[in-house]
Amino acid sequence: MEQGGMVYLSRKYGFFAAHRLHARGLSDAENKAIFGKCNNPHGHGHNYEVEITVAGPIDGVTGRAVDLAELDALAEREVLEPLRYRNLNEEVAAFREAVPTTENLTAEVDRRLRAAWEGVFPGGQPTLEKIRIWETERNICEIGGF
Ligand code: NI
Repeated sequence: MEQGGMVYLSRKYGFFAAHRLHARGLSDAENKAIFGKCNNPHGHGHNYEVEITVAGPIDGVTGRAVDLAELDALAEREVLEPLRYRNLNEEVAAFREAVPTTENLTAEVDRRLRAAWEGVFPGGQPTLEKIRIWETERNICEIGGF
């Protein structure tokens, strides 16, 4: 039973990870020029924040648009556990080639969630609407919701 229209619900998570911004196709000098101190060979860490936004109707019985326990379990299994305390360049396959920028990290989190979404939310309800990642307070990337 549905009640009212569609709503958007967002839930935030956090994890710490390390990375180094270094593009394989560029020389050391070019990398240094483009990425500056983010190219430091020994890397550095961030307390990433991830916001997952879902869209769906409010269930008339529960008053909810999403089962948060299911969303939490999905986020933990597909995103947080695989990335938490990792060196993204060295330990996450997607970043052996791709530079672990906030942009590429956001795209990777989106891919991971979409690949598992149907298994957790049959019929695709609620839908995965948007992912936002804060690398720092000043550096935020989002995908979806367009
Ligand atoms: Ni960084």
